[in-house]
Order: sequence, then structure tokens, then C-alpha cells
Amino acid sequence: MEQQKRYGHFDDQHREYVITDPQTPWPWINYLGNEDFFSLISNTAGGYSFYKDAKFRRITRYRYNNVPMDNGGRYFYIKDGDTVWNPGWKPCKTPLDFYECRHGMSYTRITGKKNGVEASVLFFVPLKKWCEVQKLTLKNESKEVKQLKLFSFEEWCLWNAATDMENFQRNFSTGEVEIEGSTIYHKTEYRERRNHYAFYHVNAPIQGFDTDRETFVGLYNEFADPQAVMEGKPRNSHAHGWSPIASHYIEVTLQPGESKDFVFLLGYIENEQDEKFEALQVINKKKAHALIAELDTTEKVDKAFAELCALWDNLLNIYKVRTGNDKLDRMVNIWNQYQCMVTFNFSRSASFFESGVGRGMGFRDSNQDLVGFVHQIPPRARQRIIDIASTQFPDGGCYHQYQPLTKRGNNDIGGGFNDDPCWLIFGTVAYIKETGDFSILDEMVPFDNQPGTEVTLFEHLKISMNHVINNLGPHLLPLIGRADWNDCLNLNCFSWDPNESFQTTENVSEGTKAESLMIAGLFVVTGKDYVALCKKLGKTDEAARMQKAVDAMIAAVKKDGWDGEWYLRAYDFYGRKIGSNECDEAKIFIESQGWCTMAEIGAEDGMVAKSLDSCKKYLECEHGMVLNNPAFSKYIYEYGEISSYPEGYKENAGIFCHNNPWVIIGECLAGRGNDAWSHYAKILPSYVEEKYQTLHKVEPYVNCQMVAGKDAFKPGEGKNSWLTGTAAWMWYTVSEFILGIKPDYDGIRIDPCLPETATDYTVNRKFREADYEITIHPNGQQKGVKSIVLDGKNVDGTVIPYAPGKHVVEVTM
Ligand code: GLC
Ligand code: GLC
Repeated sequence: MEQQKRYGHFDDQHREYVITDPQTPWPWINYLGNEDFFSLISNTAGGYSFYKDAKFRRITRYRYNNVPMDNGGRYFYIKDGDTVWNPGWKPCKTPLDFYECRHGMSYTRITGKKNGVEASVLFFVPLKKWCEVQKLTLKNESKEVKQLKLFSFEEWCLWNAATDMENFQRNFSTGEVEIEGSTIYHKTEYRERRNHYAFYHVNAPIQGFDTDRETFVGLYNEFADPQAVMEGKPRNSHAHGWSPIASHYIEVTLQPGESKDFVFLLGYIENEQDEKFEALQVINKKKAHALIAELDTTEKVDKAFAELCALWDNLLNIYKVRTGNDKLDRMVNIWNQYQCMVTFNFSRSASFFESGVGRGMGFRDSNQDLVGFVHQIPPRARQRIIDIASTQFPDGGCYHQYQPLTKRGNNDIGGGFNDDPCWLIFGTVAYIKETGDFSILDEMVPFDNQPGTEVTLFEHLKISMNHVINNLGPHLLPLIGRADWNDCLNLNCFSWDPNESFQTTENVSEGTKAESLMIAGLFVVTGKDYVALCKKLGKTDEAARMQKAVDAMIAAVKKDGWDGEWYLRAYDFYGRKIGSNECDEAKIFIESQGWCTMAEIGAEDGMVAKSLDSCKKYLECEHGMVLNNPAFSKYIYEYGEISSYPEGYKENAGIFCHNNPWVIIGECLAGRGNDAWSHYAKILPSYVEEKYQTLHKVEPYVNCQMVAGKDAFKPGEGKNSWLTGTAAWMWYTVSEFILGIKPDYDGIRIDPCLPETATDYTVNRKFREADYEITIHPNGQQKGVKSIVLDGKNVDGTVIPYAPGKHVVEVTM
């Protein structure tokens, strides 16, 4: 194998990924912010900030898919004699004497050195504050006095990130700013219906500024050579329309060995309607002044940073494993959990592959994200469940997405994705098992956010199950609707018009026979959970009713959902098989193998084992399991978007990492630990990092949605990193099924499934008010717990009963 160039490495002690070459194969980014104010930041300080909603409250501007790549960010220009450079290398790209970017837990530190000067910038969003801190430390490491000219730079977005990119006839006339001391305020549209503005501040006197982009950069110059910087002279420009920016100019003298800190703040403020103005056209800056005062010294900033780090210490102390395998431990203890938090916060809205204008929060996506996050901050998961359920319709169907700012269902995309309702059970059950909080089921939750329509959350779960039962097709399998989990299997779309959306067009649905085996499996898995929940609640009739429906579904799958060596994928509009040996292409699909093996349908008849073997035989390759095999080589209009992708990409036989864990869980339930582990390690970032930094292209510390499959031009190349259900599924798989620590209503179920090479390991798990130290002795076994000793006493069965306090558990397999 060709030796791959390396661009960085893990630093587990600091929980950082350290990038040592700025020219990564793709921008490698990080996320700042935990609740309201968010930023994306690349390893060269590219990216942008927004408040809550990447579409409607975009604070700074970014250019997607541009030349050069990764254009727009928070840039510091340092002019030292004739040399102009940036600590993050871009945009000037002046070769640096030293470069390092450390992406950590909700912070990034970028350090550059040039000609005896070190510039180090710490970027983070303090807890509960609506701002991004940029603490710049300049240090003179030379023996001479340094006279530096420092220019900061941010470019304002005119709030709505979508119209900002298109409505220029208006935009070029609306931009407005105010300048007060060392603070530049962005107040476009504040004069009319907006009650929010942004500001960019530095805690030092400035010797000049610029707020008009054209004046600062020059119309035919670039971020790499802004005229004001190149000449070392700010213009003190005041923006009127066009494109407002914010740049401070500071002259800095540094004695040999001396260092100075500058705290830059990018802040966001909302004012009450009747307190918007100080005087005609003068914005009320009271809240901005107060925010600035909270962070105007190095000491205050360091304290805020320490608080953020303490939060992460706590979050990552909830589940901690020591296996002796660094590659596994760092993913479980650090990066997988971190990615789960990020996906929970952002859903699929804003990454370097999602422009932040296209999508709100997905119904199914957010329910899955919950499962990776619920152990960290359960109250936020609880609120999310209520928000999601509030977008449901009385018949159990639901909006496919909702907008985070308004929490309203998104009319553009509508509903009709027939897997969606089941995910609400998946998310809610995970929440209750983690917290023991059954009271969530009694919360009154509306339909379609309409006041007056409230029923209990339990009722929402019930109608979710009913939605499947009420929408069965000719084989008594679930009708697929617009699509199931696979957004691209559009069996009722029949589109020849390239301007139609595959997701929202349903040209033919009257009389459809299109059924989904993926939903069938999902229904059985969540149905069993629902039955168990009903029993727990003493609702025996409801439990029996649903058990009957689950049994009927199992029978239907066995009768009409089995192809001989694997589960079918679907029936099309006409009732013809999809994902069958009879098909020319795409004979086997991963989703139904995953869900039907998780549901253990036909395990007693050998169906599960056969299906898992077929995954290995037909779907597996060096980089993971592909979605379908063989890939579609032509567009099939009865199938929709899936066949629109070239072979090996996305839903057409890409390695859709999201669904690999389904099969891995199937393997775990079947007790096949060696196979489960080998599938898992193939898509585990730390293993990929070691071998394929160049090929993989995207960030090596997180999972991406899709890796090009075996039929692709470049198998192994990753795309769509960060915001993917893969994060939660990887977490769920490794924490509960491989390492085997599974929250349950009455305690923690211990049931690992390991490769036979596994050695003793210890998991520290905080659970409700308890703290367990669980040591597992695998003894070469892949599955099967022989004995559990809790605080010196034998436990019957595999559940350690919950009791507050500290406990020591010894498990022998
Ligand atoms: C994307 C979507 C997800 C969907 C998947 C498969 O990841 O976010 O909702 O299930 O693609 O199409
Ligand atoms: C496209 C993508 C799919 C995604 C969907 C969401 O179809 O291929 O992955 O889930 O868009 O809109």
C-alpha cells in the first residue's frame, strides 16, 4: 500500500487533534458553541458564526465551494516590515516558520510563527454567552524590538444567509454600521423589523478601522492581499450599503521576549422593541457594553475558558472506558461523544457540506441524534423530544423537518416519510432508560404546534405505531410513502423532470404497492420496545395489541420479505421485488439486513445468520459495507434518486457509514463478536486516520456520512463529514452492544459482544445518581455473561439493579 502523507495526530491527554500542516486535503473543521451562539472554524480559521439558526441568523459571511477553497473567516493580518502573514496561514499563505492547529472540545487554538514572532489565537464560545472569543497572543521571540501592524477582519452576513447570496439589488443598499471606540457594530435592517445586531470588539485602543469591504480589500484584490493591509494603512471607512465588514487596526510594539494579549469579541445582541434606540438611528448598546465588560481582560477570558473545559470534563466523565487500545479508547472517550454533541446541536444544518440554508432539523435525524447524546445532558434531550413530537399530525404522520428558530414544521418538504413516526419511540425509550423519568410520557404535546390540540406524549407514541399499522401494503408490509430512512429510494416519484425534487414529488401514489422491509424491521424493533414500555406502565391491553401487530409483521417478513440468502429491500409501485437475486442490479441492500437482523426476524430459522453472511460476502469491502450491490449503472425512474448517483457514491452503493452500525448490532445480537469488531474497526476514524489521511480527505477525528464504495472511482474517499446519524449509531453500537453497557428501566444491562482477542477492560459509568465501575473479564469469549458480582454479591441475570451511590461490578464471560 502507498504510504499516505500525514497532516496531524491525536493528542489524547489534551483531547485534541493536532494539525501540523495547513494544507490539509480538505478544510478540517471544528465547532464552537453549545447552545445558542455557534461557529464553524477550519484549521486556517475559515468558517462563520450564527445565532441559533444558520439560515435566518447568520452573523458572518462564508463562501462555499469557492476558489480558493475555504474562503471567508476570522482573519488576523500581521504586517512585520514588508512581510504580511496570518497565524493560520490563510488567506495570505505566506510560508510560516511554524504552524499548528489544535482542535479541542468546543475550542480551537491556531498558532503560527514568522520571523521571530509567534501569534497564537484561542477561539471559543463561552458558556451561556452570545459571542465568540478570539484571544490573540503576540510574542516576540527574537532579539530585536518588533513594530507590528495588526489588522483584524470579519465580514458581516446580512442575516438571512439565503437572500444574502442572491438578492443583491436590495442587499447592496441596506448595509449599515456604527463605530464606537474599539467596537464596530453591524446593524443592517435594525432600523426596520430586526431587533438584533452584532458587534466586533477588541479590548485595546485602536489606531484605525475599516467597515467597507471594497475600501479595505480593493475591488480587484483578494483576502490574500487587502490594499489597506498591504499598504499598512487603514482607511477608517464607514460602510453605506455594499458589503460591510469589521476590521480593527492596532500598532503593536514588542520588546524582545515580550508578549501581549488582545481579546477580540464577536457578539450578538437582541433588544426589546421599545428599547431599540438610544437616539434617532443610534442603536441601544447597553447590552453590548455589558457583554464586553464580562470578557474584557485576559483573566476573565481565561476563567470563561476554564469553565468550558470543566463542562467537557464532566460530560466526558459519564462514560469512560479503559481497554488498553488507544485507538478504541480515544474514540469512545473523546471524539465519538464530542461528535454526538455536535450533531445533536446542529442536526444536518451547517457543515462544510451543508450550507446552512437548505435544511432544518430532521424528525428522524434528531431522534437518532438523541440516542448519542442523552447520557450527556438529559434535560436538553427531553426538550428535543417534546419539540419533535409537536410537529406530528393527528394521524401519526409528521413533518419531515422543522426549523430550529421557530420550531415549526417545514412546509416546503412536508411529510409522508413513513419511517419517521417510529423514530419517536426510539428516541423516547432511550431517554426514559437513561433517566428513569417516565413523567415525560404525561407531557401534553400538541399536533402541528397548534395550541388546543394537546394530548400526552404517550398518545403520540401510540399513534406513531398506529401509523405503520394503518399503512400496510398488499404483503402486509409497511407502505414506504415518499421514502423510508433512505431518502433516495423514491418509489412513488416517477420523475423525468430534472427540476423536480425527488424528496417532495409524488407523481404516482394512488394505488401504490410500494412497501419497505426497512420499516418492517424498524417497526419490529421499536414495537418490541413499545410493548415493553406498555408492560412497564401496566398497560397490558395495549401491550397485547401491539405484540399482535409485531407478530404479524414478523410473519409478513418471513413470508414475503425473505429472498433465500437475505432480506428483500422493498416492493416497488407495481409490487415487484427490490433487492432480490432476481434483480439485474442492486440485488442486496444493507438497510433491511440491518433492521431485520436487529429485530432478529427468523433467527430461529437461520435467516439472521444467512443475512449477516451475505453482508460480508456482497456488501463488505476494505473501507466498510456498501449500501447496495451491485451498484445501479443507470437511472431507473421507478426507483428515484438512488439510481441518479454514479456508482459507488451516496445512496448508490456508497459506504453510508450511518447504516453500517445496524449490521454490526445485528452481529452483536447474534453473538458474532469477531465479525462485529472487524466491521466496526473499518469505519472507526482512529483506524482510518492511521492509514488513509490523504485518501480519506475529510477530518480524521470524526465519522463522515459517506465513504466512496468499492464501485466508485476512488474507493475510500470520504465526504460529508461531521453532521451524520453515524455519530449516534457508532456510539450506541460501541457503548451498548460491543462494550455491552446498556441502560435499562431498572438498571444497567451488561451484555458485551467482543472479538475473541479482547482483554479485560473497565468502564466507569455515571447513571442517574449512581456511579459504577464495571470491569469485564472476557476470557476469550465473544458473547455470554456467566456471572456478575455487584459490590461483592452475586447478581441474578444480566441487569445490575439501579441504586444511587458508588458501586463496583465484576463481570465474567
Ligand atoms: C441523510 C439524511 C438522513 C437519511 C440518509 C439516507 O443522511 O440526513 O435523514 O436517512 O441521508 O438517505
Ligand atoms: C439527498 C441525499 C441524501 C439526503 C437528502 C436530504 O437525497 O442523497 O443523503 O438525506 O438529500 O434532503
